[in-house]
Order: sequence, then structure tokens, then C-alpha cells
Amino acid sequence: MTIKFMTILLAGRRSAFLYSFLLSLSLFGCKQKPEVKETPIPDRWYRNSIIYNLDVDSYQDSDGDGIGDFKGLISRLPYLESLGVKVIWLSPFQPTPDRDDGYDVSDYYGIDKRLGSMEDFERFMKAANAHDIKIVMDMVLNHTSIDHPWFQAARADSSGKLRSRYVWSNTQPKDYDKGMAFEGVQTETWTYDEIAKRYYFHRFYDFQPDLNYRNKAVQLEAIKILAYWTKKGILGFRLDAVPFIIDVPEDGADKPSHLYGVLDSLVRGAKQANPEVLLLGEANVETKENVAYFGTKGERLSMMFNFYANQFLFYSLSKEEPSSFVKALEDTRSKPGASQWAFFLRNHDEIDLGRLSKRQRETVYDDMGPEPNMQLYNRGIRRRLAPMLHNDAKLKMAYSLLYSLPGTPVIRSGEEIGMGDDLTLRERLSVRTPMQWDTTANAGFTTAKKAFRQVISLGDYGYKKINVQLEQKDSGSILNHIKKVIDLRKKCPEIGTSTWTSIATGDRHVMGLEYQPGSGRLIVLHNFSAEPAQVNLALSAKATDLYNNKSLAAGKQTIQLVPYGAAWIRED
Ligand code: NOJ
Repeated sequence: MTIKFMTILLAGRRSAFLYSFLLSLSLFGCKQKPEVKETPIPDRWYRNSIIYNLDVDSYQDSDGDGIGDFKGLISRLPYLESLGVKVIWLSPFQPTPDRDDGYDVSDYYGIDKRLGSMEDFERFMKAANAHDIKIVMDMVLNHTSIDHPWFQAARADSSGKLRSRYVWSNTQPKDYDKGMAFEGVQTETWTYDEIAKRYYFHRFYDFQPDLNYRNKAVQLEAIKILAYWTKKGILGFRLDAVPFIIDVPEDGADKPSHLYGVLDSLVRGAKQANPEVLLLGEANVETKENVAYFGTKGERLSMMFNFYANQFLFYSLSKEEPSSFVKALEDTRSKPGASQWAFFLRNHDEIDLGRLSKRQRETVYDDMGPEPNMQLYNRGIRRRLAPMLHNDAKLKMAYSLLYSLPGTPVIRSGEEIGMGDDLTLRERLSVRTPMQWDTTANAGFTTAKKAFRQVISLGDYGYKKINVQLEQKDSGSILNHIKKVIDLRKKCPEIGTSTWTSIATGDRHVMGLEYQPGSGRLIVLHNFSAEPAQVNLALSAKATDLYNNKSLAAGKQTIQLVPYGAAWIRED
């Protein structure tokens, strides 16, 4: 085994920065970057939140009909609290024909009756509050379901008032088959409607017509919806498909211009309902556009998922070298005002690798999703993380990294126990199988003979092997590891609130981040490779490696990292 060794002298913050900067020039061939001047970051409740995303229908069934519901979810709140979760992001739960797993809403003010009643929802909100858990909901404002009464009225309304809530064209636009969100499955973005005798625009599937946000009435209705749920105790919204809410499709579906004023008016409306509201945007945009979505003073989206860094993280994990990921973090460093990144590993969709070069994407495909059935939309992989990484130690390292990144960490239900995927299910449903609680039939998800979506029962990821109950008892499980890193994150609030520097570790397989709060540095190291590594540090004070539970004296220290090892070193 090769042991990589390089001396790094980190004595005091300024020389540490200078030294690491010089090293990064020589070791990684980076271009000189100007020192980033950052003003103190205003604190917000979500900057250090531990967010957990779940879909009520696949979490816990309480009444034996095979579908998860709010009552079932209430019964699992103690579990979520014990995990350390502070915020639940609920996937869409409003009435829906469910052709896109709830992202096709047919009534913005109701509860999908498969999941329970409004009273059940309100009971859930109270129960979550009693467990000190805040609730964020998915808000799908770009489009409605084709079954929504607005669309039904719009297609029938030849006078135009109701029709103009959606986007129409009298003739088939030249680019009717461009700009699809689901390439390879969706064939067009403009579809002819027999009733309206016109084409309507849909960025996503043809049963999800885009709303027209140039219409003030639509903007006002959206604000009313946000205010309605805020009154019910919702503290934040995961805003679905933000770039498409504000695009102008007639410019061409491929490169539309954006109406940021619409975003301003939605944000203003939501903040009027609650000034503390979290607006978490799904906006997978080019890095140069980020600031426009955050607002130059952080006045627009409070938080955005860092899709850009996510793709390079997967490339780095495949290559076992963090440099591309570190560069992506640098490229997305700008976060004006109080705005914040949300980091994640996998979510409920395919992992989107569309911003990697073809060669980089092939590297990730070869390593993590080599079969055509594992890939989706000509850009991504439709697998869960555990099978993608196919290595327990690497998986644990990836989660340690996630909770140490300069933003708010988000995980999807099932990730905490390392669930697998079901590639017999269509498109993204492969990663949305029901939660695996125990070894009883249907994994304890439902007492019904048949779950609404099949539980994974075969192979290494079947519920008999992978479930909450077993992992709770196993000190080496992913579940207990996630608990540990959540706990570590809570002990290190500087991660979400202070500035950071990437430090050169002297080993191209080891990533180093340093946080510089008012006092006491925090240095986090992650070894991306299957080889052991060591990093020399000069500590300016006595320190503790919180990850490995070790005390370290001030002065020169050699930190040993096992394969895929990590260290979280906090100076006193
Ligand atoms: C993004 C969501 O994450 C995805 O699941 C959904 O299909 C589309 N937006 C359309 O709402």
C-alpha cells in the first residue's frame, strides 16, 4: 500500500491560507484566485438545519390500505427526532392524479385524500412541533395538473381571460420539440389541445401545462397559496422548477429569458406572510446565474440546492480525487447576504450529470451506472447512493463529507439506512420505493398484502437485510453513522455560519476544508481513496479530532486517515 505523505505547515490562520494557497497552485495547477472578501454572514434558522425529505405515501401506512399517510408519519416522528432531524421537507401532498408522483397538483388548497384529511395534516403539524421539527413543503408553481380546474377552464375559455393563465400558441412553434426536461421520454414541449384548438406549453410532461406568470392574476394566486400554507404552520417552501416559473417560453424553449421580477413578487408575497420563511429553490442553473436567483443582496431565494457541486462531487468520488469538487465549491462560493447552499448526495430524482463534460459523465457512468437501464434522460443515473458507491466505507465517508460542507445538508428518506433501488420501476420511481422499517412483511411499511409501490425484497438491498430495526442495533451501521455525523454537525455550527477555505493537504486524494469562526479553527479532512493517507498539520492550539474521538496536542501533528477515512479537527 502506498502511504502518501506531504508536509503542510498550518500555523495560524493567515499563514495557513497563504501556504495552502501556494500549495494549491503547485499541486493542483489552479489559477491564482483573488482572496475572497466576505462580510459576516447573517444567521438564519435554516443555516445549520438538518433537513430530511420524505414522501408521505411511501413512508408509513397506518390504515392498511397499502399507501403511507399522515397518521403513519406521526408515528415515525420519534424516530426522526432520534436521528437528529430538525426539518422535514414534505414531497407534494396535495390532491393530484399522481401521474408525476404528486408534482402534478390538481388543487393547491387540499390534501391528497390517499394520505389523510386536512385534520390529519393539522395533527401532524402539531405533533412535529412537539418534536421540535419544522416543516417545509414542496410547492409546485411552474405548472398544474392538466386536470386542475384552471386548465379545464382555460382550454374552454375562448374569450381569453381564463385561457391566459397558461401559455398558448395558435400555431405549432418551430421549436415544439426542444427544451424538454425529460429528454428521451418526453417528445415535445408544445402540445395541441383539441378543445382550445391551440398548442399549450409544458416544460415537463404533457399533463403538466406551464402557468403563465406574466399574468398578474397567476402571480397573485401563487402568493395566496403560499400565504395559505404559511398560516397552517409551514415554515418554508421547496420551490419546484424555479427557472421555469420565470422563463419566457416564446423566446425559445432552449434559451428563454427570465423574468426575475416574478421571483421578486413571489418572495415578497411569501415574506409578507412570514418574514422568516425559507424559500429553497430547485434551480439547476449555470454558476454565473446563481447570484440572480439569490438576489445581489440575498433578497430572493434564501437557499438553493447546489446541483453544480453535486455533479462534480460524483465525478470526484468516481475518480477518487476531490480537486474537481473543490473547484466546483469555489465556483459556487458567492452567496450574497444571508443566502445559503443546500447540499445533498442523492435526492428523489435522477442524479443529473448534465453539466459535466461527456468524458467526465462517462467516467461516472462507468463507475456508478454502467447499464443503460441505470441511466436516464441522457444525462443522469436513476440509482440510490449505496449501490452507486458499492462500498460501505466510501458511503460513510461521503456522508461525513456532506455534513461538513459549507451549507445546509439535505438527505432523502431511506438514505440513512443505505437503501437500494428497484430498476424494474419506471424512470425515477426506481429510487422512491417504500421505507424499510423491519423484517416483517412489506418491511413494516404496510400491513396490506400489497404496497402501492413494491417494497425492495430481493438481493443485498432487500428489506430483510436493510432496515431501520436491524441498523439501530448495529453500532457499525450506516444509520448509526448518519446519527454520528448529524451530531457532529450540530456540535460545529461554524460550518453553516462562518467563512471557509479549501486547504491543500499534499495528497491529491484528500480534501481539506477549514472553517474560520471567531475563535478555534475547524479543519475537516476526507480521504477519497481506498488507500490510507496521512496529512501533516501544524496546530496553533490543542485540538480534538471529533470524528475519531482523539485529542491532539498543539504543534506539528501527523493525521492518519484510513481508506475513505475522515477527521474533524477542532482547535480549542
Ligand atoms: C422537479 C421535481 O424534483 C421532479 O420530481 C418533478 O418531476 C419536476 N420538477 C416537475 O415538477
